[in-house]
Amino acid sequence: MAKAKRKVSSGRDQAQDAIALLKADHRQVEEWFGQFEKARDADRKQKLATQICNALKVHATIEEEIFYPAFLEAVDDSDLHHEAIVEHNGAKKLIAEIEDSSPDDDYFDAKVTVLSEMIKHHVKEEEQPGGMFSEARGSDMDLDALGEQLATRKAELESEQDEEPEDVPPGGGRKSRGQEDRLMKGGR
Ligand SMILES: [Fe+2]
Ligand SMILES: [Fe+2]
Repeated sequence: MAKAKRKVSSGRDQAQDAIALLKADHRQVEEWFGQFEKARDADRKQKLATQICNALKVHATIEEEIFYPAFLEAVDDSDLHHEAIVEHNGAKKLIAEIEDSSPDDDYFDAKVTVLSEMIKHHVKEEEQPGGMFSEARGSDMDLDALGEQLATRKAELESEQDEEPEDVPPGGGRKSRGQEDRLMKGGR
């Protein structure tokens, strides 16, 4: 049997290392936040907000399950690590509010804008010199192996999200409790 296997979810032939994969996620949500800002139509806003929230939940989960623990073990900078976790927790609360809301809510746009600002700050902290990613680069972390683990887990979480029913009633409505718990914890 030919050993043509293992494609990362980006569809590239070559696997991305951990930092390249996480940065690509950052660029993707930044693009969607930019599109949200320009969107006028409620359906479009809803679609983008859902895409953003789903992508951020997957991203936070793979960082928390895989990248951050490996960072903490290799770099032993608990200040950077703990701040990142606290920022994730703040973002998750706002994501849950956005998911419970809809474009006809007066505060919907403000919630998405504030989420965008929180994420911009968090991404800067991760990517700036002396931040988590540059410290990880300078450490003995196996970024290629971690990249593969992140890609595998990301694909798994995305396929779980795809299985969710799309029929959200007009005016919002929420997912079943079980699904939300599962998503927020990133488990099954
Ligand atoms: Fe990140
Ligand atoms: Fe993060």
